[in-house]
Amino acid sequence: SQLRIPLHDGKSIPQVGLGVWQTPPDVAVSAVKAAIEAGYRHIDTAAIYENEAGVGEGVRASGAARDDLFITTKVWNADQGFDATVKAATASLKRLGLDHVDLYLIHWPAPNKGLFVESWRALIRLQEEGKVRSIGVSNFETEHLDRIIGETGVTPVINQIELHPRFQQTALRRAHAARGIATQSWSPLGQGTLLANPAIERVAAKHGRTPAQVIIRWHIDNGLIAIPKSVTASRIVQNFDVFGFALDAEDLATIALLDAADGRIGPNPMTAGF
Ligand code: A2P
Repeated sequence: SQLRIPLHDGKSIPQVGLGVWQTPPDVAVSAVKAAIEAGYRHIDTAAIYENEAGVGEGVRASGAARDDLFITTKVWNADQGFDATVKAATASLKRLGLDHVDLYLIHWPAPNKGLFVESWRALIRLQEEGKVRSIGVSNFETEHLDRIIGETGVTPVINQIELHPRFQQTALRRAHAARGIATQSWSPLGQGTLLANPAIERVAAKHGRTPAQVIIRWHIDNGLIAIPKSVTASRIVQNFDVFGFALDAEDLATIALLDAADGRIGPNPMTAGF
């Protein structure tokens, strides 16, 4: 059955969740319902995905008990700053139709705006008010992490970053471990680009599994939290059927070699225009 990763605030998060970036709102309803029916208990959305209402509808359609689910959303860059972030969280909850989320993240540090520390103070307040159970960040580099920790004394429970076999983020993961921060992988399948990789295909054939299952298992075996995205019911089921096998040392060594200096697919948080 599914594993949970402990968070430093005393809570825990299911290690595999459903990602819904680029999932249209109406599709999100059926994807979220299918995922919960397949056993997922963790859904990761964001205000900028414009599908929070669909996610909430899918959650209700599943009939699952709210307390059994772990729902994450994120404050978008345009809503950084203390007051704007509080307002954005309230709006997200309303769209989701929930009275709290389990995890609220600052989506990007957006360092040029200079507001992520104020946004972080808002997340601390939202947690005190019970609107968000745990607070974390996304796409932060070590210097951004140390800035919010230094200025508020509060360490995020999670940093959600681009992470997959071609972009393994070894240095940042070490920084997280030193600070008690859990690492969450976005685009864990490399947005699908890794599924035809010959090395991954070899490991998959050896275990009688699919490439997607091998990659998700790689995240699990590395202690990461992965949120593979799919809108396809059969893939949603397949991506959660990963608890009955494990990679051995040889497999892990093979996949370690896929790490590449140019492996990043998404924006670089240090240079992104946002
Ligand atoms: P789709 O949503 O059309 O099913 P990532 O999570 O790294 O961003 O990857 C998401 C991409 O990988 C999507 O294009 C998704 O397609 C595809 N995908 C997800 N799971 C599988 C799977 N088990 N087999 C093949 N493709 C998959």
